[in-house]
Amino acid sequence: MDRNHVIIFDTTLRDGEQSPGATLNTDEKLEVARQLARLGVDVIEAGFPASSPGDLDAVQRISREIHGPTICALARCIRSDIDAAWQGVQEAARRRIHVFISTSDIQMEYQLRMTRDQVLARAREMVAHARSLCDDVEFSPMDASRSDREFLYAVLSAAIEEGATTLNIPDTVGYSVPGEFASLIRDIRTHTPGIEKATISVHCHNDLGMATANSLAAVLEGARQIECTINGLGERAGNAALEEIVMALYTRRDYFGVSSNVVTQELYPTSRMVSSFTGLSVQANKAVVGANAFSHESGIHQDGILKHRQTYEIMDAHMIGLTDSSLVLGKHSGRHAFADKLEQMGYHLEPEDLNRAFARFKELADRKKSITERDLEAIVSDEVFQPGEVYRLLQVQVSAGDKAIPTATVQLEGPDGRVITDAAHGTGPVDAVYKAINRIVQVPNELVEFSINAVTEGIDAVGEVTIRIEACVDDESTMPLNAQTERRKLLFSGHGANTDIIVASARAYMSALNKLIAVRGQAATVPPRAN
Ligand code: KIV
Ligand code: ZN
Repeated sequence: MDRNHVIIFDTTLRDGEQSPGATLNTDEKLEVARQLARLGVDVIEAGFPASSPGDLDAVQRISREIHGPTICALARCIRSDIDAAWQGVQEAARRRIHVFISTSDIQMEYQLRMTRDQVLARAREMVAHARSLCDDVEFSPMDASRSDREFLYAVLSAAIEEGATTLNIPDTVGYSVPGEFASLIRDIRTHTPGIEKATISVHCHNDLGMATANSLAAVLEGARQIECTINGLGERAGNAALEEIVMALYTRRDYFGVSSNVVTQELYPTSRMVSSFTGLSVQANKAVVGANAFSHESGIHQDGILKHRQTYEIMDAHMIGLTDSSLVLGKHSGRHAFADKLEQMGYHLEPEDLNRAFARFKELADRKKSITERDLEAIVSDEVFQPGEVYRLLQVQVSAGDKAIPTATVQLEGPDGRVITDAAHGTGPVDAVYKAINRIVQVPNELVEFSINAVTEGIDAVGEVTIRIEACVDDESTMPLNAQTERRKLLFSGHGANTDIIVASARAYMSALNKLIAVRGQAATVPPRAN
């Protein structure tokens, strides 16, 4: 093992997908996995196959179709979970099973209702079982940072004896602080018999905003795998953000003395793709990939930047895949120039997607004088990063005003190819559009979040709408232990972009609704458009 190399373990598709409202369908997971492979991550944690048949299916497809990274599946220390994880990854060229069990007293007593001895024995037995199936086994003592140290060393050592090749130390509830987490890793290295045979990994949550700092502190103490997610997605406040980890290791390589395999130029396109698919927007001041990460407002800073970039910039925007966002294409630009520009921006589209995106570009160029990279990102996100359509929006028309009753007429194409038109009035034009769509689709849900942003400045700017809807669905999940179907409220996000904000709002609603309908009934989708 190269001691100067840090393994980047991406868990966007597993822990990241546990973010409320971030549910992805199998096609979206495959797209994200393809992009993660381009990004150069070493390991993709593709899912938790025992949690639902859908998750198993996604892990299997990723294992078959994605080449390069190791494909990993998560399992509790339960035989059937491990068997499902193996079923998920066995066809991958490089595969890993990741087993976990809680080791903190609080989780063992109240959640598992097991004693320390029982947990130790179960961990031993299940790591051995995983290892009998797969050469590459990762073991995680969940809530390690709140676990009794001596017990933790004993469980880790047992896992090594049974053949675990990676030992992952999770700060499950984001409780640790950097100095303390660093000494935890140092102590584990000194007190765990056999530790030199395994790679030490860390998995930090961001409840106190310290996930990245904790992970990096662990690297200084010899951790050589970091588990992280794109845009820092994940359970509750999320996980350590991959882009922050990678750029910190790169920018401060003088300090850390280690490197990763990540192709940093793919960071920004990956962030955009994940944000579009999950509907979770990236905050403007987010480190590395936020909209303001490379913009300078104060006069003193701008003056410094103009004189010499490095006066106020520690990273080159090109390094993360951002190119010049001023005018890029115009009305007369052809398909070739359009495709080239998207490639330069890190978007690698299939021919069919490219055709649709190009048609949208032409439409936009007729309405808007200058097309910037942000406009192109909005087009790709609206046209390509969308779920399969069960219903397709064909037309939307509204009448509104301070003395008018807001009224909308919409036309949708249904799964059987039938074109359906309906109308409704509402408290405003967007409400009227959503009500008219509801009259056709008839899937009860509640709009819980609606946000709108202008992609660029000016009256002709493209508006981007992101929404979340909540609905009851039959959850086929097999968690916790007993397989059962229960009705649960789930969140579905959607996004849409258009120079007309009513159209953008309608598209965002259709995107969320199509996800909801797919989860409810696995209905057939409308065939792709032929342009
Ligand atoms: O946060 C956590 O402890 C986890 C484990 C399954 C590694 O996600
Ligand atoms: Zn986690």
